[in-house]
Amino acid sequence: QKVDMELEAIEKGGFEHFMLKEIFEQPKSIKDCFRGRLIANEAKLVLGGIRDYSTALINAERIVIVACGTSWHAGLVAEYIFEEFCRIPVEVEYASEFRYRNPVIREGDIVFAISQSGETADTLAAMELAKSKGAIVLGVCNVVGSSISRVSHEGVYTHAGPEIGVASTKAFTAQLTVLTMIALKTALRKGTIAEQRYREILVDLENIPAKVEKALKTDKQVEKIASIYKDARNFLYLGRGYNFPVALEGALKLKEISYIHAEGYPAAEMKHGPIALIDEEMPVVVIATRDSSYDKIVSNIQEVKARKGKVIAVVSEGDSLIPGMVDHTIEVPGTHEVLMPMVSTIPLQLLSYHIAVMRGCNVDQPRNLAKSVTVE
Ligand code: G6P
Repeated sequence: QKVDMELEAIEKGGFEHFMLKEIFEQPKSIKDCFRGRLIANEAKLVLGGIRDYSTALINAERIVIVACGTSWHAGLVAEYIFEEFCRIPVEVEYASEFRYRNPVIREGDIVFAISQSGETADTLAAMELAKSKGAIVLGVCNVVGSSISRVSHEGVYTHAGPEIGVASTKAFTAQLTVLTMIALKTALRKGTIAEQRYREILVDLENIPAKVEKALKTDKQVEKIASIYKDARNFLYLGRGYNFPVALEGALKLKEISYIHAEGYPAAEMKHGPIALIDEEMPVVVIATRDSSYDKIVSNIQEVKARKGKVIAVVSEGDSLIPGMVDHTIEVPGTHEVLMPMVSTIPLQLLSYHIAVMRGCNVDQPRNLAKSVTVE
């Protein structure tokens, strides 16, 4: 028993929980993910795992992404990136819905299956179905040799290292890294991205670990905010564009480990329902970094404040407008908007972590949840 506990303490590397360790590992896990694949100064991306099907990807008329949970959120970000850069229509599907609704799949469709564990039963079944109908199935997995990686035609590993905390953190940012690299490479070969822009984004991608490192410095400040809202019964998370999936992921993290009800919403959709929930008791986390939807999200913040909601805003460094409007601001470094989710998700991971700890929850093994769901 004592030996086991000591071993666990060593594995946690000085952190109190695996989740916190994994959150703080992200500068390294993102780097591990693009190591040997991204050579920014030569404007090169080497993705050996999908070499045979890279031409099929360029010619694809459609991409379908199947996943569950946090991996599904990574898929949503990928939808925006693939559509923007590759001009290929993308659908993101919950694997469990996709597999049971007689989906239209044509020969030559590309299906991405995203999974940390590579063992999620619904995702596995969805990809088998897609395969049987002639689709090309590409895996984005963290666990090497997992079932999903074996069933895929080809795939790209995320190489984030073992993730022990049930709530996924470093696997998510690694999935975003892989999917961004695939989209950029495809877009360049397809000619749907200008070379200059491609080069700029590669340089920005190479700088992401340093930006994540900086975003992690918000930890103490986030902990303080957590102490103010730890007893809230509900939370709303809002984002637009690339930060919309970040809002969903922030809400999921909070639900999973702190058992507080939280909803993520596209900020503009708030007026079609969730706005009715807002009162002075309601903490609203708004991801409002400087991007193409900035002005719009500023108006959404005003809508929340007009109803006395408490706003916690994640903003870009140096933002001089939003801090004057909201209750709390958390500054993160700016980057190209397609890469922003890797940075803007960090304070939300920390927020859920600290709230869960303060509520005395079992952070690494939340009730009713499993790390890998091998039953449907
Ligand atoms: C479980 C885990 C989640 C994870 C989801 C999908 O619900 O608790 O953290 O996001 O499964 O898992 P996968 O391994 O396929 O990414």
